[in-house]
Amino acid sequence: MPPIEMLPDLFFFQRGYLNANHFALRSDSPVLIDTAYLADWEETERILASVGVDSRRVDRIITTHCHCDHIGGHQLVQQRSGCDIAVHRIGKHFMDTGDDWSPWWRYFQQKASFFDATVALEDGDRVAVGRHEFTVVHTPGHAADHTVLYHPKERLLISSDLLWESDMAVINLRVEGSAAVFTMLSSLDRIASLEVRRVYPGHGRPFSDFQAALHTARKRLEGYLDRPQLIGRDLLKKIIVYTLMMRGAVPEHRFFPDLMKTHWFPETVDFYFDGAYRESYDDVLSGFLRRGIVMREYGKLHTTVKP
Ligand SMILES: [Fe+2]
Repeated sequence: MPPIEMLPDLFFFQRGYLNANHFALRSDSPVLIDTAYLADWEETERILASVGVDSRRVDRIITTHCHCDHIGGHQLVQQRSGCDIAVHRIGKHFMDTGDDWSPWWRYFQQKASFFDATVALEDGDRVAVGRHEFTVVHTPGHAADHTVLYHPKERLLISSDLLWESDMAVINLRVEGSAAVFTMLSSLDRIASLEVRRVYPGHGRPFSDFQAALHTARKRLEGYLDRPQLIGRDLLKKIIVYTLMMRGAVPEHRFFPDLMKTHWFPETVDFYFDGAYRESYDDVLSGFLRRGIVMREYGKLHTTVKP
C-alpha cells in the first residue's frame, strides 16, 4: 500500500495484521503516531524514509495504546533520538511500573520493549502534530489505555483499535476485565457524536462511512453479550494467526503443545469452551487450512496473512 498523505506532510501507512497501521509527520521535528511491531522495525524505518522521515530525528511519538503492534519501534527511536513519548496516563503507568501483563505482552508472549513515557495524555487533551491539532479521546474496552485522535477541523478520526471498517479488534476479558464489552460499547458511544468524514483505523484501509462502521461494531459487541463464546472464538482465531506470524513457519507437531504452555490458550479454552483444548485447536486450524489462511508444507504451518 502506498502511503496516504491524510493532511499536509502527515502520512498514513497501511500495514498488515502483525504491524498496526501508523503515521508520520514529515518535518524538521518529525512526529510519529504509533510504530508498528518490533520484529519488523527495519521495514518500518524504510517505509518512514520513503516519505522523507528520518527516525533518528524524531521529536515526539504519540501512542494510541501500548499493544505490541503499535509500540514496536518506540524504545529504539527514543534511544537514538531522545524523543518524547506521549501515551495515555494508564499506559504510562504500565511503562513506569514495568507492567508487561496489562498491555498483553506477557499474556500473549509478544515481543515488545518498555520505553520512557515522558508525556501523560488525558482525555480531552489537545496534541499538536506539527501544525495539525488533534483531540485525545480516551476509549477503553479493547485496552485500558486506548485513545483515539480526532482532528475537528478536517473531521478526521485516527481510530486505532476501537473502530475498523468491518472487523473488530480482540476483546480480552481476562486482562481487561469482565466489563470490557460494556466499556467498549461506551467508548463507541463517546465517539458517535463526533462529525467524521474519514476514519484511519489501526488495521485495514481507511474508510468514510463512519456511521455504518459504528453500527457494525455495536451489533458485533451486542452479539458478544448474547453469545460470549463468539468472543472466545474470535480471540482463538486472531491470536493463533498472530502467533504464526510472530514465529514464521512452525513445525506442526510442536504447535499445539506450545500453545498449551501459553497463558492465553488454555485459559481461553477453559473460559469459553469447557477445556476442550484439542477440539478447539483442531476446529480453528481446520477452518484456516480450508480457507487458505494457514498452509501446511513439509510438516510446518505458516500463515498467508500479510504481516
Ligand atoms: Fe490493540
